[in-house]
Amino acid sequence: MNQKEELMNKIVSLCKRRGFIFQGSEIYGGLSGIFDYGPYGVELRHNIKQYFWKKFISDREDVYGMSAAILMPASVWDASGHTSEAGLVDPLVECKICHERVRADQPEAIVEHEAKHKKEKVEWSEPKVFNLLVETKLGASEETSKKVYLRGEVTQGVHVNFKNILDSMHPKIPFGIGQIGKAFRNEITPRDFLFRQREFEQMELQFYIKPEESEGKKWFEYWKQFAWEWYLGLGFKEENLRFRQHAEDERAHYAKDAWDIEYNTPFAGWKEAWGIHHRADWDLKRHSEYSNEDLSYFDEESKSKFIPWDIECSGGVDRAVLFVLLEAYTEDEMGGEKRVYLKLKPEIAPVKVAVFPLLKNKPELVKKAREVYEMIRKEISMVTFDDNGNIGKRYRRQDEIGTPFCVTIDFQTLEDETVTVRDRDTGEQKRIQIKELAQLFQP
Ligand code: GAP
Repeated sequence: MNQKEELMNKIVSLCKRRGFIFQGSEIYGGLSGIFDYGPYGVELRHNIKQYFWKKFISDREDVYGMSAAILMPASVWDASGHTSEAGLVDPLVECKICHERVRADQPEAIVEHEAKHKKEKVEWSEPKVFNLLVETKLGASEETSKKVYLRGEVTQGVHVNFKNILDSMHPKIPFGIGQIGKAFRNEITPRDFLFRQREFEQMELQFYIKPEESEGKKWFEYWKQFAWEWYLGLGFKEENLRFRQHAEDERAHYAKDAWDIEYNTPFAGWKEAWGIHHRADWDLKRHSEYSNEDLSYFDEESKSKFIPWDIECSGGVDRAVLFVLLEAYTEDEMGGEKRVYLKLKPEIAPVKVAVFPLLKNKPELVKKAREVYEMIRKEISMVTFDDNGNIGKRYRRQDEIGTPFCVTIDFQTLEDETVTVRDRDTGEQKRIQIKELAQLFQP
């Protein structure tokens, strides 16, 4: 195993050991490409989503939030191009030895598969198209039940509600609709932990503009920069992120232009973290045709009617969780011992502060520590109380989940109302007054 694979393995093992992320339905043998989030993972994921919601939606006057259903009729996906041959269907090739299929457009998957057969020469079938959507049936009986799809991207839930938002909110163009939610894809080769899953979450913005080239250019550039700043704000080093424009033959069928923000992963180099897509009028036009609803916008100012263009920002929540963990994972030496810690930004760390009594068997210390814990909890959420094991072990535990501060109540606290506050990254401790604590941890 090389060093890069080792890092990924360390992250996967830390995630399990410390209650971040587990293989889906693990006790039944697990489901490939499906993961469950434990107590700390779900907090980290929630904090990332909150940060998206705040910056892309609630802090802005020109964006509305919404939440559409996961199940949608097949006609939505015929319209969006996900079920047709011309659409978002991936060409696959089949191994003639073991009949496993891999994506024809992913050379690394082909090489990896060929390596499995070692000395045998692998012959491949011609590429065939394959629908990535996950389907199910709705209805009481076999005869009356209807095929529906679990959405393959959250995007279509927004486009099919475009008219509802126009009629209820009367927005002035340009305006956006943002959404966070689950998406499902029957990925052929789910891989690299959270990177390519079959059930995952997306955070997206569809920003509707006048259908003019100059507007398209202006807003595409605007959202590219906005998404870049947002991603950096998760705590990445700038040199670990880059933009990459899609080549013409690589773009999805709906995209007039497409750029990715990529992260320099330790497992496979530069990989897509986020996409900015110029979808023009592809979706609204297709849904107008397929639903027979007029999805145009009437502009009061110019007294003209048109189908707006859409500039899309689309990011994977789980991919952000994975990349944040990879970026934050740090090993160093402290007090002559090796330690592992997650250098997470305090804003997204699952636990903000841990409070300890120096000794578990001194009731006066435990009582005071609980008082301090309750006091901080009134001011901020995600504070934890820990009196298990010795103080060194408690620090290590908190370091591994990325808790930025640990507060210890000792005998001096009982005399002068001061506590020690330890910084996760430097290990430095300072004494401060209890009454100053809450202010110190305010975001
Ligand atoms: N609405 C546009 C769209 O869905 P995409 O590039 O297919 O575009 C957008 O997906 C983002 O969703 C990606 O940048 C990635 O972060 C995330 N994503 C896509 N497929 C994924 C998968 N199988 N597992 C985890 N995240 C995925």
